[in-house]
Amino acid sequence: MTKRSVLLAAAAIMLAPAVPASAQGNELVLYCSVQEEWCRAMSEAFQRETGINVLMTRRSSGETYAQIAAESGQPRGDVWWGGTGDPHLQAAQEGLTEEYRSDMLAELQPWALQQAETSGYRTVGIYAGGLGFGYNTDLVTENPPACWADLLDARFEDDVQVANPNSSGTSYTMLATLVQLMGEEEAFEYLTQLHGNISQYTQSGSAPIRAAATGETAIGIVFMHDAVAQTVTGAPIVTVAPCEGTGYEVGSMSIIAGGPNPDAARAFYDWALTPAAQELGATANSFQIPSNVNSVTPDAAPRLEDVNLIDYDFALYGSSEERTRLLQRWDAEIGSLPQ
Ligand code: F6P
Repeated sequence: MTKRSVLLAAAAIMLAPAVPASAQGNELVLYCSVQEEWCRAMSEAFQRETGINVLMTRRSSGETYAQIAAESGQPRGDVWWGGTGDPHLQAAQEGLTEEYRSDMLAELQPWALQQAETSGYRTVGIYAGGLGFGYNTDLVTENPPACWADLLDARFEDDVQVANPNSSGTSYTMLATLVQLMGEEEAFEYLTQLHGNISQYTQSGSAPIRAAATGETAIGIVFMHDAVAQTVTGAPIVTVAPCEGTGYEVGSMSIIAGGPNPDAARAFYDWALTPAAQELGATANSFQIPSNVNSVTPDAAPRLEDVNLIDYDFALYGSSEERTRLLQRWDAEIGSLPQ
């Protein structure tokens, strides 16, 4: 070390605060699994209202679950906010997330509370949304697809995108939905046939509809609210609720066990369940159904009661054993097929 670098290092030590921000309870490490725009809106609003500095990272649901599992020896995150409920339930079962009974639970929809009860209050529902697909009307000009079965049509060869279910909660919801709708063998047969039409398994669940919006692909299999978000911004996208019936997500929030800032984590959790916080979604082009009964549901949000919904078994498909088993089978039988 030169004399100059020794002096610089000494100055840096003198400038560093005696106690790191996290130990002062003035920091929150947020793992966020919705759209980047909504993640930012939530982080900025919470920081503005509380003065707590939010360090936010956006990753898909399966990726965030894997990160929290990998960090379990030394947890770095405080709250996992957003993303599909199944991997939150898996994290709860594996003790990766903390039990917390917020006073705000009294204001939640039954499906959001059900998620909390299933997990022993280690996660909670923050929004809901149905699974479907969207197509680009410039590219699909006749006989628009209306059913899961239509996506197997040879005219859509290399023109359908969906995410990889390991990284994406959207795609895992599709896998679990098809298994519940068709039976497991038929679902894997369907996915094998669908593979012939898939141009790409994306990392993030909503990427396929963004690709459809720009004309890169004709069809994206996504949550219906993500397809609507493209239409609202002017893209030629039509949203479809598949005719055979479909599944849905209970988007969830969990406090990470042993995270560095437990007080800030609870403050964020309580705040994120208020109508004011939940209504930020619509300002960030996100059209899920909020879980607080007093939150305004955006006009553009596809209503679950308008869709032919299956009775999605969250306890089973969010269990560690079943999610791990189905993903392994997908890797072996679908992910390994030649593109
Ligand atoms: O924010 C959009 C959204 O579709 C959420 O409704 C959902 O929970 C999340 O993204 C799923 O993202 P991914 O499939 O990338 O895990």
